[in-house]
Amino acid sequence: MRARALIHGALAIACAASLGAAGACDGDPTPGGAADASADASPTDASPACPSDLPASCPAAPPSYQAEVRAIIERRCFPCHASGGTAARKRDFSTYDLVAAQRSPFLNQLYACAMPPEGAPAPTPEERKKLLEWLVCKAPNN
Ligand code: HEC
Repeated sequence: MRARALIHGALAIACAASLGAAGACDGDPTPGGAADASADASPTDASPACPSDLPASCPAAPPSYQAEVRAIIERRCFPCHASGGTAARKRDFSTYDLVAAQRSPFLNQLYACAMPPEGAPAPTPEERKKLLEWLVCKAPNN
């Protein structure tokens, strides 16, 4: 129940965040659909649409916070969300406990591609996948 509500929240935010990007919220998962069939698709800028790639469930082997997730957060979020960072007072992600306590907003911002903000390096698809899986697994300290 809780996970379901969270997922719906993330989806709603994903759509809200992409109001400027036509077609991003039409819920059509068809790969290679109408979008690439004509030049009318009018890409607005170079950034690709935010993917709808939230894992449906926690994988059998959740990514390890210690071995992989922490380093990704450090690379992608610490520059602003750890001590000395411009957004550290708003959201501090420098320890496991802090991240775990803010799992829901962390997931929502990441999934909606709202964070990292424009101009800051985005997670690679592999990093994004690991973070999302770990969050859907309820952020274990593993
Ligand atoms: C380049 C700096 C920068 C990076 C990198 C960055 N953020 Fe942020 N983040 C900000 C700023 C600035 C704010 C405050 C925005 C505001 O108050 O409107 C913020 C706000 C947030 C919020 C709170 C949003 C809200 O409205 O409550 C969350 C959650 C968040 N960031 C998550 C992340 C995550 C997760 C990462 C890494 C994947 C990340 N951020 C990377 C600058 C950054």
